[in-house]
Amino acid sequence: MPVLQLDHYDIDISPIGTDHLRWLAAQEFAGIAVLTDDNTAQHCLPLIKEQLAVFQPHYITVPAGEKHKTLETCQHIWEQLFQAGAGRNWCLLNLGGGVIGDMGGFCAGTFKRGMDFIQIPTTLLSQVDASVGGKLGIDFYGVKNSIGLFRDPRAVWADARFFQTLSARELRSGFAEIIKHALIADVQQWQELQQITHLESIDWSEWVARSVSIKQEIVKEDPHEKGIRKALNFGHTIGHAIESYFLETATPLLHGEAIAAGMICEAWLSAKQLGLSKPKLTAITDYFLTIYGHQAIPEGIDELLLSTMRQDKKNEDTRINFSLIPAAGKVAVNQTATEEEIVGSLVYYRALG
Ligand SMILES: NC(=O)c1ccc[n+]([C@@H]2O[C@H](COP(=O)([O-])OP(=O)(O)OC[C@H]3O[C@@H](n4cnc5c(N)ncnc54)[C@H](O)[C@@H]3O)[C@@H](O)[C@H]2O)c1
Ligand SMILES: [Zn+2]
Repeated sequence: MPVLQLDHYDIDISPIGTDHLRWLAAQEFAGIAVLTDDNTAQHCLPLIKEQLAVFQPHYITVPAGEKHKTLETCQHIWEQLFQAGAGRNWCLLNLGGGVIGDMGGFCAGTFKRGMDFIQIPTTLLSQVDASVGGKLGIDFYGVKNSIGLFRDPRAVWADARFFQTLSARELRSGFAEIIKHALIADVQQWQELQQITHLESIDWSEWVARSVSIKQEIVKEDPHEKGIRKALNFGHTIGHAIESYFLETATPLLHGEAIAAGMICEAWLSAKQLGLSKPKLTAITDYFLTIYGHQAIPEGIDELLLSTMRQDKKNEDTRINFSLIPAAGKVAVNQTATEEEIVGSLVYYRALG
């Protein structure tokens, strides 16, 4: 079973079984609480509930969705922990996607100045992205992830069986981060990925393991995002603006769908500025279109998209900050582009439709 051993904890990518439970028992936590949302309580908890029964866990369920990643939900979680008699020597198991991982980790990290927690990510996105890197938090004041902290879990248990109940669209969304990791750091992985055109028949454990190790290597170099960790933002400057725009429409995009469009635009900027070759740009563009299709980004919203990009917390001064790829498998952080160039990349994207 693939296990990624880090300095302070392991990321275990395998079906949750007796080894996991034995390890958990050996930690001798004073108590266990399990946090789920409505969906993971229904679809994911049954896969491990019997095994957890020996620990007599206290179950906490919150409503599903990003709109509940709030202080109000945290208050409910903290209240439940108090009512269960939890102390700092308890452990919280966060069973869910990135929302549960970020918010549960935040609640654990602040409860009585910090109790232990284990991430059990149940979406592809949360297995390859959110569960690694120690970023925890909630949305506040209308700003995503604006309140939070860095703190490592005691373990991450990534079990691909959870994907059986995930929609094809959610799975495809998480896959965008796998493509991103390959594009910024591993040309061999990028070559192999291009052979994959249908996501149904993938050995997810293997791809999660390979992808997570890329993210982990980058995070290890720069745990608090002062430099190279920004590499992980490839596709996200423009992608995030696209995601924010569609969020207000009747047809919101999932994160990975928006980021896929953002990666096409930012690959175009990479070609313009850093010499990413024309054939590579075409291959990247074609692959994203094969997997994600084309998003109809309306004409006339460029100024709106630019204003979102100007407010991006990744910017260090008045310029818009990008992480771009001079070649497949290579990345350059702290790049910038003029607004004309950014619009040029959107024009390129639109013309693909
Ligand atoms: N901490 C980080 O470094 C980091 C990185 C990337 C994203 N994030 C955060 O992650 C969140 C997005 O994560 P997400 O896409 O996992 O969202 P999510 O947690 O909202 O999960 C998506 C949906 O799938 C449901 N679900 C989860 N697992 C399921 C399963 N196995 N079967 C059926 N349904 C299931 C959830 O209930 C939810 O409705 C965002 O809040 C984002 O900010 C954090
Ligand atoms: Zn992302």
